Amino acid sequence: MQKLIVKGKKFLSGSISISGSKNATLPILAASLLCKKVKITNIPLVKDVFTMIELLSSIGLNIKINKNENSLKISNFKRRLNTIAPYNLVKTMRAGVLVLGPLLAKFKKAKVSLPGGCAIGSRPVDLHLFALKKMGAKIKIKNGYIHASAKNGLIGANINFPKISVGATENAIIAAAHAKGKTTLWNCSIEPEVQDLIFFLNNLGCNIRLKKRNIVIVGMFEPKSISYEIMFDRIEAGTYLIASALAGKKISILKVKPSVIDTEIKILKKMGVKNTRKKNKIIIHKSNKINKTNIVTAPYPGFPTDLQAQMMVLMTKAQGISKIKENIFENRFMHVPELKRMGAKIKIKNNTAFIEGPCKLSGAEVMATDLRASVSLVLAGLIAENKTVINRIYHLDRGYENLEKKLRKCKAVIQRL
Ligand code: UD1
Repeated sequence: MQKLIVKGKKFLSGSISISGSKNATLPILAASLLCKKVKITNIPLVKDVFTMIELLSSIGLNIKINKNENSLKISNFKRRLNTIAPYNLVKTMRAGVLVLGPLLAKFKKAKVSLPGGCAIGSRPVDLHLFALKKMGAKIKIKNGYIHASAKNGLIGANINFPKISVGATENAIIAAAHAKGKTTLWNCSIEPEVQDLIFFLNNLGCNIRLKKRNIVIVGMFEPKSISYEIMFDRIEAGTYLIASALAGKKISILKVKPSVIDTEIKILKKMGVKNTRKKNKIIIHKSNKINKTNIVTAPYPGFPTDLQAQMMVLMTKAQGISKIKENIFENRFMHVPELKRMGAKIKIKNNTAFIEGPCKLSGAEVMATDLRASVSLVLAGLIAENKTVINRIYHLDRGYENLEKKLRKCKAVIQRL
């Protein structure tokens, strides 16, 4: 099994180019089930994207990847596709469940494995099924699979989500794009990745409008052949902004749209992290003092749960007690025991973590059980004394493209064994 070794206490400088968004690529790839011919550019070459490509290929899409260009071409001229998404692919990547909506809308039936639990919580799919049922789907759960059918095709409906969910909103949008008539979704996720999916579908020829937290989709369209560029990965950008605040002399974060990560930039500024915003880049300068702060994770435009673990590392450097309240997932403090082993002073009470700073971190052998927790340990390694060894790094490979290469370019001492 591979591990990362990080030698801490090195000042970083240079620039980091942000890759395309993993969380925008996955639903857009699922929506390609509705296309005939499409080229997608700025694809991050990460494990989850390859798993989605494998899933779509097993369903019957013809996909050609150009790794040098970070792009892929999809053609889909078959009249019939395999409408099954098997357990071995969906279990490793929950976003596999996003093929349920398009398969059901297009082929009137689908059998998709239930994703099961994962390290950060139970992660049910009831909201996905709730939306599809409102559009006329009949759904049974049998032998670990969702069996869905809609004899006469899906029909536009009014759907008011009882809770905001990124995946359920995306599944419903893609399904509604191929349903008969108009669908109105209330209480939707409006994460930038959901908006990227909407831009993609509108470019294909759909008619989708977003207003506050409502989305109106007029179903059925003749798909055009298009080329679409995926948005930047705002979580990767946030991760490197925090890395720069922790260990940077002067680092430029390139290929971003700062307005999309306004919440994160404002919080960093409040913590005393000096930054300059330009059109497509953010420059982080060395800060002498980090101020304590309190954050609460929330759906966009709130602070993203996917940056909570990384922010916690920065809080170990702040003066005083900072607080993080995790409101999205019930079990997302798995990185805390590992950070404590490195010397962090953190207490947890219910869904709130109290981080006492400033404190010195020292290198240790650590491991994490999810993607963002793993990267938080890499960030901790950058500022810790001596060597930090991060095990189980397959989690990192699910979502960070060229992590070591990007950090090494900024003079970090990091090595994969
Ligand atoms: C997406 C992101 C993930 C991010 C999360 C929250 C992708 C591929 N993944 O995951 O990185 O951490 O949004 O921003 O885009 N829930 C239900 N029933 C459902 C669905 C969700 O109760 O049917 C709950 C979940 O347990 C969780 C909350 O709703 O507590 C939010 O989950 P959701 O927004 O659906 O996350 P994902 O789409 O899985």
